[in-house]
Amino acid sequence: MIESFANILKDAQRGHYAVGAFNCFSLEQARGAIEAAEEAKSPIILQVAEIAELPDLPPIELMAPFCLELAAKASVPACLHLDHGKTLETCAKAIRLGFNSIMFDGAALPFEENVRMSAICAKMSKGAGCDFEAELGKVGDAWNVNDKADVFTDVEESARFIELTGIDALAIAIGNQHGKYVATPKLNIDRLKEIAARNPGTPLVLHGGSGTSIEDFKACVHNGICKVNVATALHTDVVAAIKQYVDTCPNPNYDELRNVIIRTNKAAVLRHMEIFESVGKA
Ligand code: 13P
Repeated sequence: MIESFANILKDAQRGHYAVGAFNCFSLEQARGAIEAAEEAKSPIILQVAEIAELPDLPPIELMAPFCLELAAKASVPACLHLDHGKTLETCAKAIRLGFNSIMFDGAALPFEENVRMSAICAKMSKGAGCDFEAELGKVGDAWNVNDKADVFTDVEESARFIELTGIDALAIAIGNQHGKYVATPKLNIDRLKEIAARNPGTPLVLHGGSGTSIEDFKACVHNGICKVNVATALHTDVVAAIKQYVDTCPNPNYDELRNVIIRTNKAAVLRHMEIFESVGKA
């Protein structure tokens, strides 16, 4: 059943667990993710990202109806979220397509410009009954986790940002990074605690979930992170399973291959739901 993004995150905040937001690069991944949520009796966020570097991904126009149908038919609270909207046009398009929430990623912009753009997107979303996530601080794609520079979300800036934009959720930077880590990260849980204490009304989001240690995940979930984005870990498991299927099956066929993808993605999503403590919360 479709539930609003804001309600899913508010419930997580009250219940001290996090909801997984799982990136779907294919229809099979979306199927597997929803099957996992139903089996785990967990709320779930399906998300589709705007990734300029991967222009061959199925466009959001094609993914949206399929994911929305899966979410609507699910026996657990589910919603569809636009991950990393880069332009106003994409955010507006996602709203038109029926996404339940959108993210505008202005983290690379100067603070005032990030505020300006995020406030426009928040207003546009709210006017259409859609919820809104923004990001503050640098969640790198390539910055070295051993870099000592303070790229983390600033506590006072986070409060100003929330006040000026009217967002439903804030993605923060505490040493997290998208994609494969160059070294095991150690998240700055003290900074997370400070941001959460300063902004008790706003659910916080951790991007770059893949590669995080269970210890850090647990510390995040218990200290204010209500949504965790996971993509790379799912893709890695799916690719390994495809390789094993093709290498070992005497007569590989497409239908079985699709089932391998669905099953493997489901197992990877289930594993994360257990860590995030969202199992049984639907
Ligand atoms: P990972 O690929 O590192 O799991 O990051 C996913 C993400 O944050 C999508 O927004």
